[in-house]
Amino acid sequence: MKIKKAVFPVAGLGTRFIPATKAMAKEMLPVVDKPIIQYAVEEAFAAGIEQIIFVTGRGKKALEDHFDRSFEIEHTLKEKGKDDLLKQIQELVPVTGTIVYTRQNQPLGLGHAIWCARDIVGDEPFAVLLADDLIQTDTPVLSEMVKKFDRLRASIAAVMEVDKDQTDKYGILDAQLVEEDIVKINDMVEKPNPEEAPSNLAIIGRYILTPRIFDFLGAKQKGAGGEIQLTDAMRSLLKEQPIFGYKFKGKRFDCGDKVGFQMANLAFALERPDMKNKLLNFIKEIQREM
Ligand code: G1P
Repeated sequence: MKIKKAVFPVAGLGTRFIPATKAMAKEMLPVVDKPIIQYAVEEAFAAGIEQIIFVTGRGKKALEDHFDRSFEIEHTLKEKGKDDLLKQIQELVPVTGTIVYTRQNQPLGLGHAIWCARDIVGDEPFAVLLADDLIQTDTPVLSEMVKKFDRLRASIAAVMEVDKDQTDKYGILDAQLVEEDIVKINDMVEKPNPEEAPSNLAIIGRYILTPRIFDFLGAKQKGAGGEIQLTDAMRSLLKEQPIFGYKFKGKRFDCGDKVGFQMANLAFALERPDMKNKLLNFIKEIQREM
């Protein structure tokens, strides 16, 4: 069955980036010159997704405006003959009707945010993308996962190894390698202390899930941090259906974290031929001075 829908939980307040996020959605923070959210939306469309479902909250209007036409800017760019920029802003606007918005009206956790999209998703497998997890890779992660899903016919999450002392930031797996880049999950736990973690293999924010997950999310059981956790619902799903992990190739940046966000900016800027040399020279210069 084709994966047509992708859920983007984007209701978070972004308190870690205050004051930048006081009046602005954290998903709109730019990595180089593109808002964080746009990377994930482009990744979803590249993977064949036809409908984007944003689970938003208060203060997220900029997200809606970003993916809508801006006649004023288009008009100005046209008048000034800035055709390249005009093309760019026109291309980033998806065909009308392909993005839908629903609200999470209480901050009850990631699992709850996804549950808010249940009626829009309906009874079909779907993708979830956490835009904070920005992945630099030649083969977009979600496209690979769609292919794996086609073959494995089961839920799948992106996974990577993290430092052992970082397990309390992630969903952590007890899993075994079954193919070169696929693990079969036996169990999982949300944000365990390093002493209790079953491994250092962590879930990263890309998922393809079967719709049965909504039944478990609907039970609204609170887990780590007093929140309704997706990991806990997946753990219940695991008792009925297999779930796999995809060990993606590439560099992942946690853009929900200040250092991770700066690293993402640097890594993505270094990919730009017009910025690369200037930045490298600057890095060498400041390294000499340190
Ligand atoms: C969420 C999930 C967690 C996962 C992580 C990946 O946590 O709950 O299982 O490992 O995303 O980034 P959050 O970062 O929202 O706290």
